Amino acid sequence: MGPVLLSSLLLVGLGWAAPPDHEVTYLPGLSKQPSFRHFSGYLCAGPGKYLHYWFVEAQSDPQSSPLVLWLNGGPGCSSMEGFLKEHGPFLIQPDGVTLKYNEYAWNKIANILYVESPAGVGFSYSDDKKYGTNDTEVAHNNYLALKDFLRLFPEYSKNDLFLTGESYGGVYIPTLAEWVMQDPSLNLKGIAVGNGLSSYEINDNSLVYFAYYHGLLGTELWKDLQTFCCSQGKCNFHDNANLNCTLKMGEMIQIVEESGLNIYNLYAPCDGGVPGSMRYEGDYLITHDLGNSFIRMPLRLSWRQNLFRMPVARKKVRMDPPCTNSTAPSMYLNSPEVRKALHISPEASEWQVCSFDVNRNYKRVYMQMNEQYLKLLGTTVCGGEPTDPGSISASSAFYLAEAAAPPTAHSVCYIEIPDPGVQWGRRHGLQLSRG
Ligand SMILES: *[C@@H]1O[C@H](CO)[C@@H](O)[C@H](O)[C@H]1NC(C)=O
Ligand SMILES: *[C@@H]1O[C@H](CO)[C@@H](O)[C@H](O)[C@H]1NC(C)=O
Ligand SMILES: *[C@@H]1O[C@H](CO)[C@@H](O)[C@H](O)[C@H]1NC(C)=O
Repeated sequence: MGPVLLSSLLLVGLGWAAPPDHEVTYLPGLSKQPSFRHFSGYLCAGPGKYLHYWFVEAQSDPQSSPLVLWLNGGPGCSSMEGFLKEHGPFLIQPDGVTLKYNEYAWNKIANILYVESPAGVGFSYSDDKKYGTNDTEVAHNNYLALKDFLRLFPEYSKNDLFLTGESYGGVYIPTLAEWVMQDPSLNLKGIAVGNGLSSYEINDNSLVYFAYYHGLLGTELWKDLQTFCCSQGKCNFHDNANLNCTLKMGEMIQIVEESGLNIYNLYAPCDGGVPGSMRYEGDYLITHDLGNSFIRMPLRLSWRQNLFRMPVARKKVRMDPPCTNSTAPSMYLNSPEVRKALHISPEASEWQVCSFDVNRNYKRVYMQMNEQYLKLLGTTVCGGEPTDPGSISASSAFYLAEAAAPPTAHSVCYIEIPDPGVQWGRRHGLQLSRG
């Protein structure tokens, strides 16, 4: 009797553990403060590493709603982009000052934990300010940050847990899930990756066909690509050593990535204007190249290395994902009132949508995620009945494991996003995997 009583008392006590000094009590830019609670502060992701998080409770019934962790990609890009421009409860308006409630907010059905990862991204920082890292280290740091979150908010440790992300989150999420699934104290129910980077090779190869079949390349270039990059019906646009192939691929890349097409949604305009791979804006050199495509192509490689060595690149470079305009969220998050409201440390630098420092010093360990997905699928993350394949509609915004083994309907775990989410998915395009 005694111990049982004690533990239930403890649980009740812990139910109120949300850190009061992290609670956001007044957020600038809203005409009316929200009815749900939200928190912003730092999570410890290892010795001397502090990851900024913004946690929004579900709009109704947070206690029994799932806990969902969200990571934007990059590597080196901030999850505040996902918060303020994609599926957070408040969306930043073009004036960089006003926030509007989001009809399609994910926190209508779940408690969402937005984390800026790794250290060096957004408001996250480390004591040593050295921001070189790699996939292995990031997965572990994200795991430690999640553990720290549940230390601060133990009332959520029994809720269903989902790990979600997009783009380079295609690497972050399965590698984080590997840690999480081995921790019996965490209630992992599933993962979801949108527009994820799951294989550089498949990504590169499929992009060329995508471009051709959407009429972007023209027959002449296509014929040359076939001649120089393919043999016996098999094409290699990923790491082809043939110099002629490389040159033709240069033309292909120019059209697809640097001519102002929106790589995330071909039929949408390019937000932020025609990009080019880099340009100057005021004192800044702006690059849109997150380094996720054609990493094995010699021309691209040397270009990236040169950019990194340029003295100007060390000081004032901004890295914006293609066709994204980060002016409004930057204005908002860098205003002193907002920093104060969100409890941002004075140690944190000025907020930028992506960190050039983190991106260019990042060591990519995994070239494909097959192993991680097979491991995750093998352990019945769903834990139960087969999933009805019919319920994964073609318009679902998120799929799991599309790049791993052939889709096996019985082992697919997914979050069914209600119509609002699908709307979001449509708006943000799911065609291509970048950033
Ligand atoms: C980017 O957004 C800002 C603020 O909303 C706007 O003033 C600017 O015109 C936009 N830039 C481009 C190139 O669309
Ligand atoms: C990743 O970073 C950690 C910490 O710096 C280091 O110990 C490890 O060797 C690195 N792994 C790779 C594959 O670079
Ligand atoms: C590259 O193209 C040139 C001109 O079309 C041709 O003369 C040369 O043989 C090609 N080289 C290879 C390796 O295909």
